[in-house]
Amino acid sequence: MYNIYEVVSKLKNEHDIDDDSLRFLLENQDIESVLFSEADVVRREHYGDDVYIRGLIEISNYCKNNCYYCGIRRDNKNIARYRLTKSDILECCDAGYLLGFRTFVMQGGEDGGFDDNEICDIVSSVKSKYPDCAITLSIGEKSKESYKAYFDAGADRYLLRHETACDDHYQQLHPQSMSLKNRKKCLYNLKEIGYQVGAGFMVGSPFQTIDNIIADLRFLQELQPDMVGIGPFIRHHDTPFKDFANGDLHLTLRIIAIVRLMLPYALIPSTTALGTISNDGRELGLKAGANVVMPNLSPSAVRSLYSLYDNKKHSGSEAAESLNLLKKQVEHAGYRVVTDVGNVKR
Ligand code: 5AD
Repeated sequence: MYNIYEVVSKLKNEHDIDDDSLRFLLENQDIESVLFSEADVVRREHYGDDVYIRGLIEISNYCKNNCYYCGIRRDNKNIARYRLTKSDILECCDAGYLLGFRTFVMQGGEDGGFDDNEICDIVSSVKSKYPDCAITLSIGEKSKESYKAYFDAGADRYLLRHETACDDHYQQLHPQSMSLKNRKKCLYNLKEIGYQVGAGFMVGSPFQTIDNIIADLRFLQELQPDMVGIGPFIRHHDTPFKDFANGDLHLTLRIIAIVRLMLPYALIPSTTALGTISNDGRELGLKAGANVVMPNLSPSAVRSLYSLYDNKKHSGSEAAESLNLLKKQVEHAGYRVVTDVGNVKR
C-alpha cells in the first residue's frame, strides 16, 4: 500500500522515486487534493504567488512537418496559411509591452519561408527595441548552428516539447521523417548553447500509456529543463487523429503537480489547451503547481488560423488585450500576475 505523503517525499528527493510510486500518483484521482496542495507549497517556496505572463506571437502557420495530431500539419489543405512580417511582429511587441508583457514568445510551424537571417533580424530588432524583455523562440527543430545564430542575435529561451520520450510512441505520433533521437539532440544542443530550455508533452495523446508518461517524467528528470509545457491532447477535425478522445483534465493536473515536485524551480505554464478542455482549466493548472500563463498576442486577424486543435481558445482571458480578465482569474485562484521578465530561479 502506498501512503501519499511518503510518495510525495520520495518525489521531492529527486532520484528516489520508483516507477510504481509514480504509477500510484498517475492512476489515483483520490490523492489529488494532497498532491496539489504539496505542489502548491513547493511552488510558493520558489516563486511565492507570482504568475509570469508571456505574450505569445504565432508568427507563421506554415509547416513542413506532418505530425498526426497537429492542425497546422503540412497536409491540412483546409486552412489558410499566413506568415507575419517583421513589422507585424514588432507591432505585437509594442502592444504587449504597454500591457506589461516582458517576455515575447515567437512560435510557429517549421516554416521554410523564414530563413535564419530573417529570424535573426526579427530577434535582434525586438531585442534592441526592448532590451528589458526576454525573447523565447518556439519554431521547431533546427541545426545547432541555427540555434546558435538565434541565440547570438538575442534569443534567451527556446520551447521544444519532446512530445513523448518513447521511440515507438514517437513513431505513432509522427511520420518516419521525424525521430525522437533528433528531437532530444535539439534539446541538448539548445542547453549547451545556453538557452533556458523548455520541453514537455501532451497528456492523452493517441496510444499513450502510463508507462509512456513515466518515461516522459524520467526524461524530464534527466534533461532538467527550465520550462515544462504540459497540456491535454485535443483532437483536430482535419488530422489523422480526428476520431481520438481528448486528454483527461485531472490526469493533466496531476502530471503538472508531479513535475512541480520533481523540478521545484521549473517554469510551468497553465496551458491554453487546459483552458480549452475546461472553463476553469487554467485556474486549476495554477493551483496544481503551474506558475506561467501565455496569453495570445498575435494579430487578431490570424488568431483563428493558428489552429493546432479544435476550439483552441484565443478570446477572453486567453487574449493579451483582456489582461484584466486574466488578472482577476489569477487572483481568484490565489495568485497574482506580475510585470517581470520571469527568469527561472534555480
Ligand atoms: N492537442 C494538444 N496539443 C497540441 N499540440 C499540437 N497539436 C496539438 C493537439 N492536437 C502541441 C504540441 C506542440 C505545441 C506547440 O502544441 O505539443 O509542441
